[in-house]
Amino acid sequence: MTNIAVVGTGYVGLVTGVALSEIGHKVTCIDIDQAKVERMRRGESPIYEPGLDELMTKNIQAGRLFFTANHAEGFTDKDVVYIAVGTPEKEDGTADLRFINQVAKDIATNVKQDVVVVTKSTVPVGTNDHILSVIKEHLVHNVDVQMVSNPEFLREGSAIDDAFHGDRIVIGADAGYAGDMIEDVNEAFGIPVYRTDVRSAEMIKYASNAFLATKISFVNEIANICEKTGANIEDVASGMGMDGRIGHQFLRAGIGYGGSCFPKDTKALAQIAANHDHSFELLEAVIRVNNEQHRSLTNKAKEAFGSLKGRRIALLGLAFKPNTDDMRESPAIAISQELLLAGAEVVAYDPIATENAKRVMPEGVTYVSTAEEALRGADAAFIVTDWSEIKSLELRAYEQYLKEPYVFDGRNCYSLEDVASTSLNYYSVGRKAVVNGKLVETV
Ligand code: UDX
Repeated sequence: MTNIAVVGTGYVGLVTGVALSEIGHKVTCIDIDQAKVERMRRGESPIYEPGLDELMTKNIQAGRLFFTANHAEGFTDKDVVYIAVGTPEKEDGTADLRFINQVAKDIATNVKQDVVVVTKSTVPVGTNDHILSVIKEHLVHNVDVQMVSNPEFLREGSAIDDAFHGDRIVIGADAGYAGDMIEDVNEAFGIPVYRTDVRSAEMIKYASNAFLATKISFVNEIANICEKTGANIEDVASGMGMDGRIGHQFLRAGIGYGGSCFPKDTKALAQIAANHDHSFELLEAVIRVNNEQHRSLTNKAKEAFGSLKGRRIALLGLAFKPNTDDMRESPAIAISQELLLAGAEVVAYDPIATENAKRVMPEGVTYVSTAEEALRGADAAFIVTDWSEIKSLELRAYEQYLKEPYVFDGRNCYSLEDVASTSLNYYSVGRKAVVNGKLVETV
């Protein structure tokens, strides 16, 4: 059992803290937001993540999981401090290290015993060295501080499962005992550990996210060519994925990636490269392709209708992916902007993310509380997020409620054969369109 503090209770920090307590460590999660701390003490997660509330409650009751807004109290008697604060994107695409720097100073002024500092936040290569120098500069007591880079690979919506069944735990440490200690801390997860130096660990995180984003943009470009050549992206991706060197994952064509990681980390890595006089052309293209992919549904609707002026569009799903209320960089934002710019009226429905959506979506979008309400009287439906509730919506609901039988499906939720037996005009990604019951090439 190790005494651990986790600073920052956003997605990464909270899931990390809860998971570490579940494997037997005594964990104190620190956050500056007192109201949030109160909620978490009651076992209420501030984020929507399946299974998290239950695990929090269990470990609070077991006396292994604590929450505090008081840094001095949080750092008392801790052998390990995890940094899990945000690294938002600055205007030039680089990571904003304001919160990281503040935590470094807080650690320096509060720790009274030797401590290993573990960085979970995604930070540019070299940041751990920078954190250590800030800590050493402000250190009040004569203690030893060592750094470990331990990037997270959790996916929102399945973060709990990923925490206990991830593919690897990356531990980046230079000389000293810190790497061994963090390997011990993680032993009970039973997940393969990969040891490397600090800078390589920092790079593994960026390179992994950039590679996955590249797979998505690649398959989206193949989908765009499928549409022009009459091929079917679902079959193409399945056939490609059977090659073990390629694999099936992250080959789902759609409306482009969103979320808190891929958009931010791809831009940050391109910027890191630029700062070192290297132009990362491939990654720049991945980002451009993704931005363009956000427009694909609207482009199809414009083609089908001629003009979208005065058309009422039902947006089904707003979150950047299912099983999360996270709206960060959701394609729904860009899609709504495009639609409003084209003079359309936007009526939106999401099972969970509506309150978060209201904060980041453009002005002028109307929100409703059921899919049927969104569809009723609309000229077209746009399927944006493949929530299981939305995927399982019967095709006859569209026939029944839409004014015009047009469905633009950004997540390929329905089989073309099923749609062909309805009266719907259906446009999806990388597949033939269905018009008047017939499969047609879109160009
Ligand atoms: C991602 C990484 O997977 C995770 O390892 C890292 O720690 C954080 O970033 P997350 O953003 O939660 O996780 O979601 P993920 O499931 O990876 O999806 C990201 C985006 O890509 C979503 O918008 C999703 O819809 C899109 N996506 C994913 C596709 O369009 N096609 C795919 O095949 C897979």
